[in-house]
Amino acid sequence: MRALGKSGSITQLLKTLGTLSPDERQTKGPLFNGLRERISTLISERKDDLEAAVLNARLATERVDVTLPALAALVGAVHPISQVMDELAEIFANLGFDVAEGPEIESDWHNFTALNIPPEHPARAMHDTFYFPADPAGERMLLRTHTSPVQVRTMLERKPPIRIVAPGRVYRCDSDATHTPMFHQIEGLVIDRDTHMGHLRWCLETFIKAFFEVDAVTTRFRPSFFPFTEPSAELDVQCSWEGGKLTVGQGESWLEILGCGMVHPKVIAACGLDPAEYQGFAFGCGIDRLAMLKYGMTDLRAFFDADLRWLRHYGFSFLDVPTLSGGIGA
Ligand code: PHE
Repeated sequence: MRALGKSGSITQLLKTLGTLSPDERQTKGPLFNGLRERISTLISERKDDLEAAVLNARLATERVDVTLPALAALVGAVHPISQVMDELAEIFANLGFDVAEGPEIESDWHNFTALNIPPEHPARAMHDTFYFPADPAGERMLLRTHTSPVQVRTMLERKPPIRIVAPGRVYRCDSDATHTPMFHQIEGLVIDRDTHMGHLRWCLETFIKAFFEVDAVTTRFRPSFFPFTEPSAELDVQCSWEGGKLTVGQGESWLEILGCGMVHPKVIAACGLDPAEYQGFAFGCGIDRLAMLKYGMTDLRAFFDADLRWLRHYGFSFLDVPTLSGGIGA
């Protein structure tokens, strides 16, 4: 600035060229210009040096040796959704369930048709499905709208007796404080020769007690409808919100927890099993909501903001693995 700026010394010097005689200009011109060039190269060299020094200083102070053992507290936290998934897997493993998986990009047949939701069925409209473009045969893949297609895949792949839970991501075109376009469900499926609704009730009550770590719960089945279960019900659990704090098990209010029912004979048949021989139950439950209820978060969207402060507050240590004996919640 002081040399090359608008009123800098070199700039001023160059301006005097106009007042000089042609002879003088001939000798002073190259001199002044050479001076200007030298100064600007010196300045830019100095700038490069300073920048390199700053970079080297940062490289020296921010160096991380990733091979060194790290403290758990320094390497992040287990997300509440992962934590709850681990808790659920532990609870159901103790009841003799395997964990099954299915693809998130699913065929229309697995997500709908095999689950007794044929094309043009009004239940399809309720699912707000994300579809992929159709292939040349007119088939459209989709992002699964629930974990129920894993029921279908499991029945096609395994022989009864079947006892699985399938946790995972599901997608619906919906977004507000209680809905995100991607969320998590856990599906349960039991298929055997004489499984009945009483087994379903016991299984769900046992799961609720273990998950909320209470000795007793009062539950009720509310009649509902799902095309893939008959009869269908929603499970409510008695609770209280006294003092703004949720207590599960007793109280004046009811908490809607999940949808369930006896697997529809048409679904069993679509999966290659004989509905006269086999029957069973299924349930589907929102994991994010379970996590919010148990650990007291109020806005679902925060789950997916990747805000470190939120994660540090609500996250779990990866060393605290949930076990039934050591405690399911951290
Ligand atoms: N798939 C259902 C839903 O997403 C839940 C469900 C699963 C209901 C299994 C009954 C049996 O809403």
